[in-house]
Amino acid sequence: MSAKIIKGTEVREKILEEITAEVAQIKEKHGVVPGLVTILVGENPASMSYVTLKIKTAHRVGFKEVQDSQSVDISEEDLLALIDKYNNDDTINGILVQLPLPDQIDEKKILNAINPNKDVDGFHPVNVGRLMIGGPEVKFPPCTPAGIQELIVRSGVETSGAEVVVVGRSNIVGKPIANMMLQKGPGANSTVTVVHTRTKDMAAHCKRADVLIVAAGVPDLVKPEWIKPGACVIDVGVNRVGEKISEKTGKKIAILKGDVDFDAAKEIAGWITPVPGGVGPMTITMLMKNTLKSLKFHLGIE
Ligand code: GUN
Repeated sequence: MSAKIIKGTEVREKILEEITAEVAQIKEKHGVVPGLVTILVGENPASMSYVTLKIKTAHRVGFKEVQDSQSVDISEEDLLALIDKYNNDDTINGILVQLPLPDQIDEKKILNAINPNKDVDGFHPVNVGRLMIGGPEVKFPPCTPAGIQELIVRSGVETSGAEVVVVGRSNIVGKPIANMMLQKGPGANSTVTVVHTRTKDMAAHCKRADVLIVAAGVPDLVKPEWIKPGACVIDVGVNRVGEKISEKTGKKIAILKGDVDFDAAKEIAGWITPVPGGVGPMTITMLMKNTLKSLKFHLGIE
């Protein structure tokens, strides 16, 4: 049997269309559009390309978008003042500080300075706490875990009572997605296990999984024999394993590999996400969803 391939690129298009339509409706009724600012410090090439894509997507769905680029040697004090400016700007609903930040800046201090009601990344401790409580408390689920849950729901995978195994315990993916899958509600209600580098028998846990979510950052970590036949496999890994020339543009591009041996796993799994083109496209999409939500909270219509 060959698994159904969960195409994040297709789901992204659908959700971005839904967001665009809703933004147009709100604009007509309330005369405002969501505003997103991305703050980029320095010229890290990966960060620059992520921010460019975020701004381009925000423009596409009809948001007001602001890209605020700052010098690599900006002081912590000046960066805090900049955040304060956007915290007090009513036309801005979402503030995103692109990570990582240079060494002179305390990342935690910066993230904590963002107004939790504009923290569309969901990284502020208040939003981490809201996620832990679950239900209507949750304002801004972190974007990658939210994208994973959206893919699972839209693929029609049963999660209620399902054994979900999460590989990896990062603050950005492993811990929040584990927490989200055990909450009450659609796309959740699961029995969740988190495995990590100190787990005694990772394979044994993975073999029990009806839904296996892998965010370890190790290429081909998950072997086909670790997968239960018919399981849903979500591969969050984006590992650069080399370079090639793009057939489309003629430019050098990275060769990406997931944490799961895709070619072998797709013969056993019921559903599987490819890398690239699976979870990746969902992260920015959910950032747009969170920014739209933030405006709706502000207007009192959500
Ligand atoms: N750097 C890499 N991924 C992310 C992300 O999702 N949000 C922010 N703010 N920075 C990042």
